[in-house]
Amino acid sequence: MEKKNIDWANLGFGYVPTDKRFVANYKDGKWDEGALSSDATVAISECAGVLQYSQSCFEGMKAYTTEDGHIVTFRPDLNGERMENSCKRLEMPVFPKEKFVDAIVKTIEANAAWVPPYGSGATLYIRPFMFATGPVIGVKPADEYQFRVFATPVGPYFKGGVKPLTLCVSDFDRAAPHGTGHIKAGLNYAMSLHAIVTAHAEGFDENMYLDAATRTKVEETGGANFLFVTKDNKVVTPKSNTILPSITRRSLLTVAKDYLGLEVEERTVYFDEVKDFAECGLCGTAAVISPVGKIVDHGKEICFPSGMKDMGPVITKLRDTLTGIQMGRVEAPKGWLKVIK
Ligand code: PLP
Ligand code: COI
Repeated sequence: MEKKNIDWANLGFGYVPTDKRFVANYKDGKWDEGALSSDATVAISECAGVLQYSQSCFEGMKAYTTEDGHIVTFRPDLNGERMENSCKRLEMPVFPKEKFVDAIVKTIEANAAWVPPYGSGATLYIRPFMFATGPVIGVKPADEYQFRVFATPVGPYFKGGVKPLTLCVSDFDRAAPHGTGHIKAGLNYAMSLHAIVTAHAEGFDENMYLDAATRTKVEETGGANFLFVTKDNKVVTPKSNTILPSITRRSLLTVAKDYLGLEVEERTVYFDEVKDFAECGLCGTAAVISPVGKIVDHGKEICFPSGMKDMGPVITKLRDTLTGIQMGRVEAPKGWLKVIK
């Protein structure tokens, strides 16, 4: 199979339409079989639930070419499970996780020529999503939905690649107590847009959100969870029921414990203790692990000892081991890699 003629090494994190996408529709109380389609557009009612009341959710995952030339994806069952939870919370019909994994496999297979070659620095980003297509005008769940999966080749999420980032402590909240912060609802991202545009305009790469109720605890950023490393090499990550349960973060805790022999702690992290950590990173499918060099809290700077030039040593080892697993250089725990071909 011949790969597409793309300058893989210089791809940013953007949308490039690929050959095929998977489309399934929900009508009269059931999902149809779904099929691959060449049509990258969607035509829906002007009154569709997604357009009126933002009834939509999504997932993010990647396909990789391994060192020995296979195409794999990473823990798709967990994305399927998380999407089930998003659907339940948004009163959308569940797309069963077994069918979800099957749709992911079909989409990657059909776009194999778009999976960046091993060592290119790029990956194929997979975007499964669901939205309400049925018309609603009173505030209620729609009767009809579409589930879709497209793929797009991507490079690094943050401009400039893997360089330490500067974050600001946001004055905006991302998620309310008992709200939707723990699911991957499109509405969480819509309300974060003003905050990220403001942060960028002020020269920051991302926002650090604190808990909305007390503004004393570290939550996450707009698109990634936090990992901290203590001065004695313990890996610490915030525990909160208003952050997205990142699959990358859960995987990294296993990597830290079982591959690197590090102690790990998932617990409340107070903003006051952030200044005492040795390293900080953002983790997610898009972010992988991106190092954080500095956090600015209303003019007060917290500079991590790892500095603004390089990634700290523990974050580096975590990143190398995780990407090693994803690219087949390091043996994966059982069930983590789904081989597509
Ligand atoms: N937090 C938020 C708000 C996200 O959007 C994402 C991206 O999916 C993550 C965390 C990381 O999650 P995952 O590692 O499952 O991609
Ligand atoms: C991902 O990491 O897959 C996400 O969905 C985050 C988004 C900000 C791109």
